[in-house]
Amino acid sequence: MESIERVAKPGLGTLTPSFSHLVGRFGTACLRRLPPEVSHHLGMQLLKSGLLKVCKPPLDQDLDISMACNLEGVGSLKHPIGLAAGFDKNAENLIGLGSMGFSWIEAGTVTPLAQSGNPKPRLFRQAEQHALVNRMGFNNAGCDQFAQNLKRQEHDLTFPIGINVGKNKITELDRALSDYVKAIRTLEGLGKYFVVNISSPNTPGLRSLSSKSFIEELAACLRSERDAKISDIWIKLDPDMSKSDFQSVVEATTSESFAGIVLTNTHRVESPFAGGQSGHPLSVKSTICLEWAHEVHKGKLPMIGCGGILSGADIFQKMIRGASAVQIYTALIYRGPFVVYELLSELKAELKLRNIRFLQDIVGAYYLDEKLS
Ligand SMILES: Cc1cc2nc3c(=O)[nH]c(=O)nc-3n(C[C@H](O)[C@H](O)[C@H](O)COP(=O)(O)O)c2cc1C
Repeated sequence: MESIERVAKPGLGTLTPSFSHLVGRFGTACLRRLPPEVSHHLGMQLLKSGLLKVCKPPLDQDLDISMACNLEGVGSLKHPIGLAAGFDKNAENLIGLGSMGFSWIEAGTVTPLAQSGNPKPRLFRQAEQHALVNRMGFNNAGCDQFAQNLKRQEHDLTFPIGINVGKNKITELDRALSDYVKAIRTLEGLGKYFVVNISSPNTPGLRSLSSKSFIEELAACLRSERDAKISDIWIKLDPDMSKSDFQSVVEATTSESFAGIVLTNTHRVESPFAGGQSGHPLSVKSTICLEWAHEVHKGKLPMIGCGGILSGADIFQKMIRGASAVQIYTALIYRGPFVVYELLSELKAELKLRNIRFLQDIVGAYYLDEKLS
C-alpha cells in the first residue's frame, strides 16, 4: 500500500503526494492538451486569480537549512531554484509565480519599447524529449509598463527579482548598446540585478553581440552612465558558440568585473521547428558551458546554471560544476506547479546519498582534487 501511495522518483527520493499535489498534476495534464501559448496564458491567469494558492506546496516545513545557498551580489536564497527569464516577460505575475516556491525570479526579457514578437505559432512542445522550441522574439509590453507592473507588486515581494533586458527588433545592431542602457536606466532600482541578454536566437543578429568587443563597450558605457557600477549586471550566453569564442566572452566578462554569467539560453535548432530549444536536449550542452567558463575564470566569476534541468540530479550536476544557483523553465511546463517542491526533494536525496549536509559545499566540487564521495 505504502508503495502505491508514494510517487517514486527513479533512483532518487520519494515524496508523498497530497490531494493538492494530485490536483496540480491533473491541472498540468489538462493545460498540456491546449496549444502551448494558450496554456501559458491560462496558467498565468490561474496563478493571478490566486486559485493555485490553495495547492501551495508544503515547502516551508519540508525545507531543510541545508538547501540554503548564496548567489553572489543577489544575496542568500532559501534554496537554489529560481524561475528563468521568458516566463513572465512583463513582470505581471511575480507574486503568483512566487507562490510555487521559487526562491527568486528573473523577469523579462523586456525591451525599451513594446513589441509584439514573431507571428504565431511560435512555441512548440516536444513532449517525448521533455523539450520546447520557441521563437517568441521578445514579445513584451516595454519598459514603462514593466516598471508599473513591478512597482505594483514590490511591497509584497519576499524574494529577489532579476530583470532581463534586450534590444528592440527595430533597433539597428550598431545601436543595440543604447537599448540595453536605456532599459537599465528606466528600470534602475526596481530589481536586485540585471541580466543583459545577448543570447536569444530569435532576434536577428542578437547573438553577434556575444563578443569580447561588445562586452568591453557595454562595460565602458554602463560605467560612465551609472557611476562606475556594473557589479549588479549579469550576462546571459548561448550554448552554440565555439569553445574559443565562448571563452573569450567569458574572459572579457571576468576582467570587466561584471556580476556573473547565466549559462545558458536556448540552443538554436532548425528542424522540425526553427527557434531555440530548451529542456532535456539542452542539458549536456549547457552543463559543458559551465566547465568551459570555469576553465577561464577558475571560480572567480559567479555562475547561474540554466538549461535542461528536469530533476534534482540535474541541479546537482550544475552546482558541482560551479553554478551558485539554478533556474528552470521547461521543467515547470512538464512537471507542473509542484516542480520546485519535487526538485528540492530529489536534490535532498542526492545529498543524502553522498552524506552531504550543506548544499553550499558542493558548488564547484567537480574541479577540486578531492572529489565528493
Ligand atoms: C517560451 C520560452 C521563452 C523564453 N524567453 C526568454 C527570454 O525572453 N529571455 C531569456 O533570456 N530567455 C528566454 N528563454 C530561455 C530560458 O530562460 C532558459 O534559458 C531556457 O529555456 C533553458 O532553460 P530550460 O531548459 O529549463 O527551459 C525562454 C525559453 C522559453 C522556453
